[in-house]
Amino acid sequence: MLVIRINPSILSADFMNLADELQSVSTADLIHVDVMDNHFVPNLTFGPPVVRQIQDVSAKPLDIHLMIENVDRWAPEYAEMGAFSVTFHLEATSEPFELARKLRSIGARAGIAIKPNTPVEPLLEHLSEFDQLLVMTVEPGFGGQKLIQETLPKVAAARRRILRESAAVWLQVDGGIDESNIAQVSELGADTFVAGSAVFNKLDRASQIEQLRSLANAGHRH
Ligand code: DX5
Ligand code: ZN
Repeated sequence: MLVIRINPSILSADFMNLADELQSVSTADLIHVDVMDNHFVPNLTFGPPVVRQIQDVSAKPLDIHLMIENVDRWAPEYAEMGAFSVTFHLEATSEPFELARKLRSIGARAGIAIKPNTPVEPLLEHLSEFDQLLVMTVEPGFGGQKLIQETLPKVAAARRRILRESAAVWLQVDGGIDESNIAQVSELGADTFVAGSAVFNKLDRASQIEQLRSLANAGHRH
């Protein structure tokens, strides 16, 4: 049976109260941390010093999503600070396998992400090189966007290949996931769901996480 994971993205959290915000999502599986450099995407968040502090106070392991250039230079630093998972974009490096091996050798799970217009097929030949495949369901850069339905066939294609190969890779989706679509995306085969605004825009985060989890479980069983 597929394990469903709900990873709230702190991009939509109140940064002035981040410790309390992290506490409010303690029933989640992992905490999704969006690192942006204003080059790979037209937005800027934070880098290693801030992520290190988040790591220090978070009760849950961190799922780092790097939306930056120069990943060969920066990604290992997140693994070295003890991040559970470090995901970089295929579009940001010419040596994805080498970088994934490096992240694993440091002790992190290695994730590879693709933007909405990047085909998934080339990666399907190499699933064992990665611990997580992130299919972006919006253009990376901002929270609160609407899910792009045209990205979903990539989720289905990835799940078919994962099943065929009994691959251990987690299949993550990120962008526009909420209670209206999580069951559908789960049915197509995603198992790891990032939700930013859908979690942090609600007052009762625990019950929202629970609702997303049960809808995803229902979709998967469908
Ligand atoms: C967008 C980020 C997402 C973002 C998702 O580029 O990668 O993780 O926080 O936010 P929602 O769930 O609001 O679309
Ligand atoms: Zn993200």
